[in-house]
Amino acid sequence: MEEQQPEMPRLGLGTYGMKGDEATQAVETALDIGYRHIDTAQHYDNEDAVGAGIAQSAVPRDELFVATKLWPDKLGYDDVLSGAQESLDRLSLDSLDLLYVHWPAGEYDPEATLAAFDELYEAGSIEHVGVSNFTTDLLDEAREHLDAPIFAHQVECHPLLQQQNLRIYGAGHDIELVAYSPIARNEVANNSDIEAVAENYDATPAQISLAWLRANGITAIPKSSNEQHLRANFESQFIELTTADKERLDGLDVENRLIDSDFAPW
Ligand SMILES: NC(=O)c1ccc[n+]([C@@H]2O[C@H](COP(=O)([O-])OP(=O)(O)OC[C@H]3O[C@@H](n4cnc5c(N)ncnc54)[C@H](OP(=O)(O)O)[C@@H]3O)[C@@H](O)[C@H]2O)c1
Repeated sequence: MEEQQPEMPRLGLGTYGMKGDEATQAVETALDIGYRHIDTAQHYDNEDAVGAGIAQSAVPRDELFVATKLWPDKLGYDDVLSGAQESLDRLSLDSLDLLYVHWPAGEYDPEATLAAFDELYEAGSIEHVGVSNFTTDLLDEAREHLDAPIFAHQVECHPLLQQQNLRIYGAGHDIELVAYSPIARNEVANNSDIEAVAENYDATPAQISLAWLRANGITAIPKSSNEQHLRANFESQFIELTTADKERLDGLDVENRLIDSDFAPW
């Protein structure tokens, strides 16, 4: 029997830090390689360029999963509604597959913010509600306010920051974990265990990091504007880690967080 594809492709393209032609070209190349999930955000200032890449590709809209995020200054009730429409316009799309609260900060108010997310969900402007950079307490609070389910929680996750608690919470509440900085901006290349496992597959540490996320049921959105990296990251999907190698990486006991901010809730 053929393996059923998850609704959200387990590998996506991250787009932080690329703009203009670079972003358009990266999206087009990624779609050509076979990527079907694109992750952007209003804060990345590239939604129009990402939309151009989507428009220029031959991939039909219904085969694509597009996610964007609203920044903390756009989380008041009215701003969520107008902000979502602005993203749709910039991306040249009729609906978003996933809209995230980018950080629970600034104008984030669970009651007002999430009421607007519910309204977008009811209207069909967004297929799914997502949150990013939440704690388990904040997830509990958000679930109390939302009528729509929380479909995905996006956080930093890789073998050097394994996010056990959030993974357990997600599994218990049917919330997909989406790993950002999934190769730790290639810091994984500096870890000797990951390097040693990579040798077993004639792969790179970046590919092993992505294969480890996949083996744990976690979606990954590596960013690249380099065609060779885009291909290598895509091919990580075909690496099946042995139980011993997976367990070796599961057992890495480090907490190497790359992304932090003054308004982080942790
Ligand atoms: N929700 C949030 O708060 C949040 C925060 C951070 C990131 N994100 C999302 O997650 C995405 C990914 O995270 P990230 O950009 O922070 O980090 P990342 O994907 O872990 O790493 C990207 C860096 O690694 C390089 N790279 C990519 N593939 C490689 C490979 N196979 N071998 C060696 N180097 C490689 C890229 O350079 P090249 O372009 O030269 O390949 C880039 O410098 C972002 O783009 C964004 O969409 C979300």
